[in-house]
Amino acid sequence: MAKLIVVCGATGGLGGSVARRMLTDGWKVRAITRNKESAGAKALLEAGAELASANYDHVSSLKTAFEGANAIFGVTNFFEYMFDNGAKAAEEKETQQIVNIATAANSIPTLEHLILHTLPSAEKLAGPKYAVPHMDSKDKAADKIKAELPDLAKKTTFLWLGMFASNFWAFPMMIPTELPNSTGSHVYLQPIPASTPIYYAGDTETNTGAFVSAILAKPHISTPAKYAFVYTEQGPFSEYLQAWKDATGKRATFVQISRAEYEDLWGKEIGGELAMMLESFAMESDWGKAHKGHVITAKDLGIAEGELVGVKDTLIREKHRL
Ligand SMILES: NC(=O)c1ccc[n+]([C@@H]2O[C@H](COP(=O)([O-])OP(=O)(O)OC[C@H]3O[C@@H](n4cnc5c(N)ncnc54)[C@H](OP(=O)(O)O)[C@@H]3O)[C@@H](O)[C@H]2O)c1
Repeated sequence: MAKLIVVCGATGGLGGSVARRMLTDGWKVRAITRNKESAGAKALLEAGAELASANYDHVSSLKTAFEGANAIFGVTNFFEYMFDNGAKAAEEKETQQIVNIATAANSIPTLEHLILHTLPSAEKLAGPKYAVPHMDSKDKAADKIKAELPDLAKKTTFLWLGMFASNFWAFPMMIPTELPNSTGSHVYLQPIPASTPIYYAGDTETNTGAFVSAILAKPHISTPAKYAFVYTEQGPFSEYLQAWKDATGKRATFVQISRAEYEDLWGKEIGGELAMMLESFAMESDWGKAHKGHVITAKDLGIAEGELVGVKDTLIREKHRL
């Protein structure tokens, strides 16, 4: 009989990738959403998933939605709460929501594997001056699960992702800006040097599902409580921009500005959050530094090189969105 995976965030990018891949792998997929009537939910139903309503703020709704699961995938969305409530409140809420998903998962007797999207803590990487709420919130939740739910932690994998290629159409701060009356010249205004090495997750709508599929196929490799790291390349920030230039054929120059200027442009809340994240990458290029010996890569999971899609190939394929 086919195994059942319950996928949180299935109407979104990461969860959607997992839901589609696991359907292809022959699993039964139950997709969690707050709104079964949304276009994304209906598309999942058509693709063969069943739908269940649940909200990360209500553990009881998650427990009901998780019934009978062999595997559960969890992903939260810090930025949805940050715009309404500020970064500090969003940090606490995201930590609590991840812990809520884990608490509900812990009550499911059939559960074999829990996979939770988290990120490394900027504070642990680069020091307290570099606290980045959307990274620290997720790592704090991982620490809480290891400390407070040790039996669940034994069958848990934390899934990290590098910077998405989709930022080039989905995240305003990561989209080059066209200079008016320039016949197509762009600037890439960022608060760190172009030479800063960064990890990139490429096409997250393909690569997230590929990782989860491999994690579930070889559960012993990424448990207990290991950090599986989705990235297709690590390279200077200038290479990320170069991929965009190659894909679009447009001209662009990387221009470093200060954190204060970045905050002036984008606002203190989101500008400050992103600037601090990028600064923490400039301080420490090894995201696995605080978790030495516990970080798993695509190679460890036996994922074939050709299975993952890197930044440039994603941008070439999605050129119409750039
Ligand atoms: N951009 C980057 O470079 C980057 C890099 C690394 C990590 N990340 C992380 O990626 C995450 C976002 O992932 P994504 O792109 O997949 O997000 P997304 O496309 O915006 O999807 C978010 C999903 O979460 C669900 N959701 C949100 N709040 C919920 C709640 N209270 N109860 C139940 N479901 C809820 C939504 O479902 P419904 O609306 O259907 O209910 C939706 O399916 C963020 O945490 C971010 O920090 C981003």
